Amino acid sequence: MKGILVAVSPEGVIGKNNTIPWHYSADLRRFKRLTIGNTIIMGRKTWDSLPIKPLPKRRNIVITRNDIENVECFRSIDEAIETCKGDIWFIGGSGIYSEAMHKADIIDMTLVPDNISGEGCIYFPEIGDDWKESEIRPLEDDDRLKHKKYSRRE
Ligand SMILES: NC(=O)c1ccc[n+]([C@@H]2O[C@H](COP(=O)([O-])OP(=O)(O)OC[C@H]3O[C@@H](n4cnc5c(N)ncnc54)[C@H](OP(=O)(O)O)[C@@H]3O)[C@@H](O)[C@H]2O)c1
Repeated sequence: MKGILVAVSPEGVIGKNNTIPWHYSADLRRFKRLTIGNTIIMGRKTWDSLPIKPLPKRRNIVITRNDIENVECFRSIDEAIETCKGDIWFIGGSGIYSEAMHKADIIDMTLVPDNISGEGCIYFPEIGDDWKESEIRPLEDDDRLKHKKYSRRE
């Protein structure tokens, strides 16, 4: 399984000024539950923004044109995927999501209620017709948050 894991605002914002402009423990718990024991692939700016590096108990991979100490780096998503066993989660940011959209089987999306706009906003890319959207449901243990999944249309 290769999945995209993301939380978005109603405007489609995923980040602002290199941080995530909301905090929901229930979403972080979900992120942890899905990714622990698996591989996470992220862009360099997302890596920079992590409060704890690397995220424990998962294989952390960073896509960058440079080398970063203490983490596995690859020049492209394809090179990274070739080395992976088991489930892979693409965890952002926007460039990684755009590319991963052609490689992933599912998009796992948390909808946060916070309205975010202005300079420095980073957006989730457009989701094409090749994706089929599931029903929107409240997220387990926090009904301020909603959740939906997209799977690839056959
Ligand atoms: N809401 C969410 O679920 C979520 C999840 C993740 C991140 N975020 C937020 O998103 C923002 C960061 O996203 P971003 O889009 O600005 O940056 P990003 O995708 O995390 O990182 C961009 C960097 O990744 C490397 N990169 C990306 N694609 C590449 C490719 N095809 N080949 C080689 N290198 C590549 C480059 O690094 P080099 O410049 O080092 O070469 C590029 O500058 C932050 O605000 C973060 O908090 C939100």
